[in-house]
Order: sequence, then structure tokens, then C-alpha cells
Amino acid sequence: MAQQKISAPKGVSEYTPPRSSSFEFVRESLIAPARNAGYQLIELPVFEDTDLFKRGVGESTDVVSKEMYTFEDRGGRSITLRPEGTAGVMRSVIEHGLDRGQLPVKVWYSGQFFRAERPQAGRYRQFYQVGIEAIGLDDPAIDAEVIAIADAGFKALGLTQYRLEITSLGDAQSRAAHRVDLLKFIATLDLDEATAQRAAINPLRLFDDKREEMKKAMADAPLLINYLSDSSRAHFDQVIGYLDALKVSYTLNPRMVRGLDYYTGTTFEFVHELLGAQSGIGGGGRYDGLMEQLGGQSLSGIGFGLGVDRALLAAEAEGVIGDDAFVSDLFIIPLGENAKTHALTIAASLRANGKKVEIAFGDRALKGAMKGADKSGAMHVVVLGDAEISSGTALLKEMKSGVETSVKIDSLFEALEK
Ligand code: HAM
Repeated sequence: MAQQKISAPKGVSEYTPPRSSSFEFVRESLIAPARNAGYQLIELPVFEDTDLFKRGVGESTDVVSKEMYTFEDRGGRSITLRPEGTAGVMRSVIEHGLDRGQLPVKVWYSGQFFRAERPQAGRYRQFYQVGIEAIGLDDPAIDAEVIAIADAGFKALGLTQYRLEITSLGDAQSRAAHRVDLLKFIATLDLDEATAQRAAINPLRLFDDKREEMKKAMADAPLLINYLSDSSRAHFDQVIGYLDALKVSYTLNPRMVRGLDYYTGTTFEFVHELLGAQSGIGGGGRYDGLMEQLGGQSLSGIGFGLGVDRALLAAEAEGVIGDDAFVSDLFIIPLGENAKTHALTIAASLRANGKKVEIAFGDRALKGAMKGADKSGAMHVVVLGDAEISSGTALLKEMKSGVETSVKIDSLFEALEK
């Protein structure tokens, strides 16, 4: 009896050929500017102690309270699949004492993240991010550089129809002053119990409420940007000044609320205009209390996470990404057992010299193998039979023009270079 097929779990993103080439191109383009700026790879586990996210990301967030994949492992420990990257980086930096060396610690990462959200276009339960973190300096120039690196990644991809939104959440003093007035304002609203509870943990969350009546109710709420302390104001003004010098355009959005609780000071989001409801293609900001919160020393930090899945959707929507599938320099069609051995050794040597080479396996008839070569989009084809092997020469066909040239098998590399 035929076995039942198994499908992927609901809401995960996966990339199969040929679209996987576009995905790879997007991921590499997004991270290239960070590598050029001296960020180094940090490779971390995809699961961590659940407390890391509870303490690091914050219990008032949807991410922690509703969306974590948490389970008990065989040793009875509570484990969570990472919903984001910053907390894990901080854990690792503290654990390995990287903050005792040269500052700032500058790292980049790339990989899968997990949030049990309701799946829809551009919102997945397993998704991909590339990100960077710069830990240990609170120089406003670093804020601007980090933002400019993210912007350069989107530009490298060819995206134009997006905007950068930016604001400052200030320091503890700014937020305390704002919180007093915000709580007074919220006390005048008629809130349901769940909303009141959220507001009690983090009143800023009410700015993020998508319901029309809440948006209206919050229209006159006091804005944090008007409560910045002198030093927070000066820091933010400098960040803006550097962005102007870098010609990175931005829109001020004092109502921005990030989905994670660790943010302080400069915060930002990249929003794409063609993506509908899931338009956030990247975001980040400062998290000046996070290291201490996780048991480390008191050092500041800033970083970003860019959504690779959404950046790919954005690139496709803007039509800036082609079908960038693998195309070989040479397609070898061996005829017979002896030729197959030769094809294997010729291909291995050409590949060692940087050529992309495919072989038609499976002992197909010449006509079928030629069709396969044509379909693959290969630049050249060579047919190897016993006659070619004994004479040491073969016909190299350039697929585009159909022109065939007789070449020495030993000189295939040079012939492909022409
Ligand atoms: P985040 O804004 O939660 O920030 O996520 C960053 C990006 O990941 C989003 O802008 C979005 O493009 C993508 N993303 C998030 N959730 C999903 C999902 N369910 N499906 C598809 N894409 C998604 C962070 O995660 C912070 N750790 C960024 C950061 C680094 N802040 C400072 N350093």
C-alpha cells in the first residue's frame, strides 16, 4: 500500500531550487556590508535556556508570552527555540568573556529563528534573519554606522521602495519621566482587562495596538520623544546628523514600538512599501541594559536583524531579482563506461580550477542527454565517446551560438577560458 505523504510543519519557510539561489543571493547581499565593516561571524545554538528570552526579551512581549517554542528536554530543563538573535549573542559574549577584550565586540550571524505566530504571507513560524551586534560603546557614530550597514544591504539587493523609520526611546531617566505621564493618560482610558494588564507591564505597548478604537484613544497620548533627557536628546541629534552626512534617508516615527523589551535610545525599522501587512524587512536599536540584565557587566550595545524571507519577497515584488539558478560552464556527456571514468576525472580537475562542470549520468541516449544539457542552461557541451578518448580531441559546442570547435581534451580549461 502506498504510504501517506508527510508535509512540512505549518507556517515554515523553505527554499528549493531554483528559488533557493535567489534566497542565497539575498542573504549574502544583506550581510556583505557588515563583513566589509569588520564584523565577524558568531555561530550560536538555535535552542537556549528559556530564561534567557524571558529575562532578555521581556515577559510583556508577544514574542515571549505567546510565540515561543518551549519544551522540556530529556533532562527536565526548559528549552526554547530562539525567537531572535540578540539575547543569545549577549549570553555568548558574557559566557566567553568577549567583552573583556577589544571593544566594541562586533559580530554578525545568519540563521533560522522561530516564533509561533499565525502564518500568513511573509510571516512564518520558522524564518531567516541576518543580523549584527556591536557591543561595548555608546558612541552615536556607531548607531549611524549600524543603520547605514543595514541600509547598504538593502541597497546591494537593489531595493528602492522602502523607508527607514527611526526614533529614540531615551535613557532610563527619559523613560521614567514619560512613563509617569503616560500612565496618567492611560488611567483616563476605558481598557479591557487584557489590555490593562499589558499596559501595567509596559505601557508603551499600547502604541502598538492595531485596533482602530485603541489607535484613536492613543492619538493624544504623550510621546516619549518629547521627554528625552538632555544627554539622550544630544545622542539622538548626533545620530541624525551622521545619517544626514551619510545620505541615508529616514522618517522620524515617535510612535514606533518594537516587539522586544530590551530597546533603549536609538531604535529603527525598515518598512517595505509593497509587502502589505508584513512590511517590516528589518529592525534594530540600542539595548543599553541588556548585558547587565543577563548577569554581565554594564555595557551598551546596538544591532539589527534583517528578515531574509521578507527581503526576498520585497526583491521579487520590485522585480530586481532574476532567476539566478546554477549555470555550468561545461556539461559533459559520457558515452559508455570508460568515458564515464574520464568524465569524472576531467570534471574534478576543471572544478578544482574554478570551473562549474556537470556530468550527464545515468547512461542516457545521446539525444536525451543533449536535451538535459540544453535545459540546464550550460554554456558549453562536450560529448565523450571512445573515439574522443583514444584521439584525445573532442568537439566543444558553445550552446548559445551552436558553434562547434575541435579541442584537445587536455586543454579544455583553456578552451573554456576563451
Ligand atoms: P525583529 O524586529 O523582531 O528584531 O525581527 C527582525 C526582522 O525579522 C523583522 O523586521 C522581519 O523582517 C523578520 N521577522 C520577524 N518575525 C518574522 C516572521 N515571523 N516571519 C518572517 N520574518 C520575520 C529582532 O529580532 C532583533 N533581535 C533585532 C535586533 C538585533 N535588535 C538589536 N539587535
